[in-house]
Amino acid sequence: MKVAVVLVAAGRGERAGGGVPKQYRPVAGVPAVRWALRNLRRAGGVSVIQPVVSPEAAHHFAAASAGIDVSPPVEGGATRQASVRAGLEALAAFAPDLVLVHDAARPFVTPALIARAIEAGSGGAAIPALPVTDTVKSVEGDKITGTLDRSTLRTVQTPQAFDFASLLAAHRKAAQAGRDDFTDDAALMEWAGHTVHVFDGDAGNIKLTTAEDFARAEMLLMNALGDVRVGSGYDVHVFGDGDHVMLGGVRIPHERGVVGHSDADVALHALVDAILGALAEGDIGVHFPPSDPQWRGASSDRFLAFAVERVRERGGVIAHLDVTIVCEAPRIGPHRQAIRARIAEIAGIPLDRVGLKATTSEKLGFVGRGEGLTASATATLRLPFAQEI
Ligand code: CTP
Ligand code: MG
Repeated sequence: MKVAVVLVAAGRGERAGGGVPKQYRPVAGVPAVRWALRNLRRAGGVSVIQPVVSPEAAHHFAAASAGIDVSPPVEGGATRQASVRAGLEALAAFAPDLVLVHDAARPFVTPALIARAIEAGSGGAAIPALPVTDTVKSVEGDKITGTLDRSTLRTVQTPQAFDFASLLAAHRKAAQAGRDDFTDDAALMEWAGHTVHVFDGDAGNIKLTTAEDFARAEMLLMNALGDVRVGSGYDVHVFGDGDHVMLGGVRIPHERGVVGHSDADVALHALVDAILGALAEGDIGVHFPPSDPQWRGASSDRFLAFAVERVRERGGVIAHLDVTIVCEAPRIGPHRQAIRARIAEIAGIPLDRVGLKATTSEKLGFVGRGEGLTASATATLRLPFAQEI
């Protein structure tokens, strides 16, 4: 079965306050829409993710989705309904069996919820719903006019799951009838005469709507990513012939080179081991054996990108990276900012989450004699306790 997701991210987020639209604002250092994408990708069974964005914010989407497998975004419309339709039309050639429509503003969709959506949606049309626990009143001004029977009421969420052909036909029909006011796809399908079913939603799957929701989201995420891990790494290389050294992904001119199988970047190698250590997933040699010719002369940013990807696959975030380089020469100070910036770029984290120190070894030992250089590193990760986030 071909399952596609239409991810609607073309809103302006007015209720959350002006500026950068809410779906691009960070939650625990990661843009909200990136959490949604990560969680959609972590779920099994999704073949294609079709993002819908506004042209003014296309650069925000490109940055937030870097490295994640998504189709080229299409342009949204003035209403959510128009944006969903744009996504469906873009998927028409792919002709999925099932489509899940999901709000970019719901970052905490879990793989379990996605699995329920796929299962229930296979029946034709189904949406996640939660029981109402508060008593609900209707009011005029400050006067109560009635008490609703909450047992028949549900609040509903996304992802909403539909037979693709039926949802596309219903959207085309609504557009033709001049109806553009449906706030969710279930309402549109009901209007088109389909029966829509409900399945169990997830109370943690909140929609970021107001500025206060961000504080709540941050708390939910910090709680969910409460498994804080610290890993350490260490690396040594010998100086040899050459005219530069690679340190932290930056080429530094030097009267000597560094001997090693790859580009012998001690700072990146120590960082990779620190991350793998925090994940308890072996070390750099396990994943990139020196005996394998394909890593000869390899640029070490690939090793770091691999470790960063492993963190993402585990559903976690890198909270901080810290490196100490020990050598008599070259001098690191002039390159400190460039190295920090490069590490931050490869790891996809802000610059203020990368520390870099350098020291000599006071002419003592092999480093002091200028025979080689070393680096040690620490990585702090936040991982989910369960496989829920
Ligand atoms: N959306 C969209 N196109 C629109 C309007 C909304 O793709 N023309 C998307 C939003 O980006 C969001 C989802 O639909 O992911 C749910 O909409 P909502 O929470 O209302 O977001 P906004 O419309 O952006 O916020 P607001 O209504 O406060 O302006
Ligand atoms: Mg809106």
